[in-house]
Amino acid sequence: MKLRKVLAIAMASMMVFGLTACGGNDAAPAEAPAEEAPAEEEAAPAEEEAPAEEAAPAEEAAAEDADAAADAAGAGGNIGVCIYKFDDAFMTTYRNALQEILEGKGYTVTFMDGKNDQAEQNNQINNFIAQKVDALIINPVMTSAADQIIATVKDAGVPTVLINREPTADQMSAYDKLVYVGCDARQSGTMQGELILDTPNKGDINGDGKVSYIMIQGDPENVDAQYRTEFSVKALTDAGIEVEELDLQRGDWDRNKGQEIAQNDLAKFGEDIEVIFCNNDDMAIGALQAIQAAGRKVNEDIYLVGVDALDAALNEVAAGNMTGTVLNDAQGQAEGAVQAMEDLLGGKTYAAGEQSIYVDYVKVTPDNVADFQ
Ligand code: GAL
Repeated sequence: MKLRKVLAIAMASMMVFGLTACGGNDAAPAEAPAEEAPAEEEAAPAEEEAPAEEAAPAEEAAAEDADAAADAAGAGGNIGVCIYKFDDAFMTTYRNALQEILEGKGYTVTFMDGKNDQAEQNNQINNFIAQKVDALIINPVMTSAADQIIATVKDAGVPTVLINREPTADQMSAYDKLVYVGCDARQSGTMQGELILDTPNKGDINGDGKVSYIMIQGDPENVDAQYRTEFSVKALTDAGIEVEELDLQRGDWDRNKGQEIAQNDLAKFGEDIEVIFCNNDDMAIGALQAIQAAGRKVNEDIYLVGVDALDAALNEVAAGNMTGTVLNDAQGQAEGAVQAMEDLLGGKTYAAGEQSIYVDYVKVTPDNVADFQ
């Protein structure tokens, strides 16, 4: 994707909106995902050496950190990056962007695949701490585990940037060398609703006075899924549109699950479905396969929206097979995360309530899709 222009806008708006307190996502339901936890524990580097008990007490660690920070801020340092799972389309783009930026700046980076398993990720964090990395960038598996993650990195005194899955402001306030870089998921939900409001019939294809939709949700444990689900529909109701939810199912950000849910719902509700909201593009691409297999035509007899602006989704928007998507700016977030990490390494601390840095989402329609391709 050529995103230079968009990035410039996103980074500029980050400067403007940077350091805003994170708004209330206090209600993340603690739901056990636990699916597909892989059996074997391969390849965690340096797994057995340096047990966790060796972690220095806070003051000692702080002194060591100051040295490490001085090294790291200058001629590169060792950075540990934990991703919730490698097998996630958007996080793959994000990971590649992080790698390019960090390596380009001379850091030595190790990426770990949490395989959607919080216990596995906890081990990886402990291993990174034992290896005395200079800083951590963590995409938590479960936001409900944030307290534990924060306590661990605080104990070790490691400067930490959390990405993609936002804990509450309250949870983050426990540690002042901790910052979250991401997006405000409410904005993406609202933009999805606006994409539907911008259609000629405002989503009411059959003219019965209400918009009947299905919602294909990401992993409901994270706020991106919660807020996108809530705010996409809210944009319609705020505009005075009557809505009818035919179905809401979790698709866990996964293309195959998106396809299955859409296929079942299209068989069950048929022409009644006017809009398919997907919390992300990968599920929308899956839903599109089901829409096409059912002989339906996007933008003629059904609308389809996603979030992320994956390359595949941009192509479908350009071809008229998706009504629109919303740019989830991986490059901008990766740049913001590295900047925040360098600020931390330079000794910056973050006050409670000022630990979330947001990058703006951008609406993508056939009119502007070329800017993103
Ligand atoms: C969202 C993104 C999804 C998925 C999820 C993982 O921001 O839109 O595609 O990557 O993060 O937490």
